[in-house]
Amino acid sequence: MSNRIAAPHSPAREAEVWAVAGGKGGTGKSFLVSSMGTCLARKQHKVVLVDFDLGGANLHTFLNVAQSRRSLTRFFEDKDARLEDLVVPTEIDNLGLITGDLESVSPESVTFSRKGKLLRHLAKLDSRYVLVDLGAGCHPNILDTFLAADKMITLVVPEITSVENMYHFIKSVLYRKLIMTLKDYGFKDTARHVWQKRESYGIRNLREFIDYLRRNMTYLEPILDKELGGFTMHLAVNMARDSQDIHLGSSLKSIFDKYLGLKASYAGFITYDDAVWRSVRERRPFMLHFLSSRSSKEIEILVDNLVHDREIPPSWGQP
Ligand SMILES: Nc1ncnc2c1ncn2[C@@H]1O[C@H](COP(=O)(O)OP(=O)(O)OP(=O)(O)O)[C@@H](O)[C@H]1O
Ligand SMILES: [Mg+2]
Repeated sequence: MSNRIAAPHSPAREAEVWAVAGGKGGTGKSFLVSSMGTCLARKQHKVVLVDFDLGGANLHTFLNVAQSRRSLTRFFEDKDARLEDLVVPTEIDNLGLITGDLESVSPESVTFSRKGKLLRHLAKLDSRYVLVDLGAGCHPNILDTFLAADKMITLVVPEITSVENMYHFIKSVLYRKLIMTLKDYGFKDTARHVWQKRESYGIRNLREFIDYLRRNMTYLEPILDKELGGFTMHLAVNMARDSQDIHLGSSLKSIFDKYLGLKASYAGFITYDDAVWRSVRERRPFMLHFLSSRSSKEIEILVDNLVHDREIPPSWGQP
């Protein structure tokens, strides 16, 4: 990592872990992670980005960094490898990167215990923020890493396929959170049974499932309150082209609440911008070389909202 002085970071304080996922491929997750990381690093925070995109690792390309031989693969294949030793510098001060090269990692190397160790060690990296690019899909590795993050960020583009995949992703995350929580308290089988027989109980969605558990198994109520009460997901819309696209975030918020009983926070949007693909083609990190673009300003607003747990005003994008 660069030697320029970053904001003091007490090693006693854990890094804040942000994870970016969303179900569908090609929505701009890696672009967003690299851009948010650059933005935070330019504000003098120490940041480490982690490419956990199994099979499709390319975060390094957005930062013009060569793929390192010290990639995350090493962490999974060598039990003595330490996560902090895998951080490589970038051209951006305060910004380090753990590259992914997981095409070469054998699936059996991503063991439960190794994955658990990775999750514990992410927050121990010597940085203020750790941003994880999780890639596409709903694999349990993705869901668990997402759930372990301090900030869960889902990215959607205004296309029906992306919305469908994101909805499926969020449903999978919430169901896993619920089942894992109830497992910890010894009620996993009870909950699973109700879910499997949901039609006969008149349960149509996850919201009704959770309501059913609360109403009919009152001993679960305090557990659900404790574990799901503060459970928030942050939403961002990418490649917006008009006000209707911008409004998508607010619509999704209402849908998540209605059908999943999930509180979501609409942190911001990024306009579709040719400057983005130009930055990728020219291998010039976006938030370093395209700062006069409209979308770079939107990314700054998005990052600021995420840092402060804020949303964009609900009126934005309203017809
Ligand atoms: N706001 C934007 N405007 C224009 N193009 C964009 C924007 N955001 C991303 N792109 C383009 O979309 C392409 C895909 O982005 P990216 O690789 O970040 O997606 P991803 O979600 O990480 O994909 P995968 O799931 O395959 O890892 C990039 O090549 C980038 O040029
Ligand atoms: Mg990607």
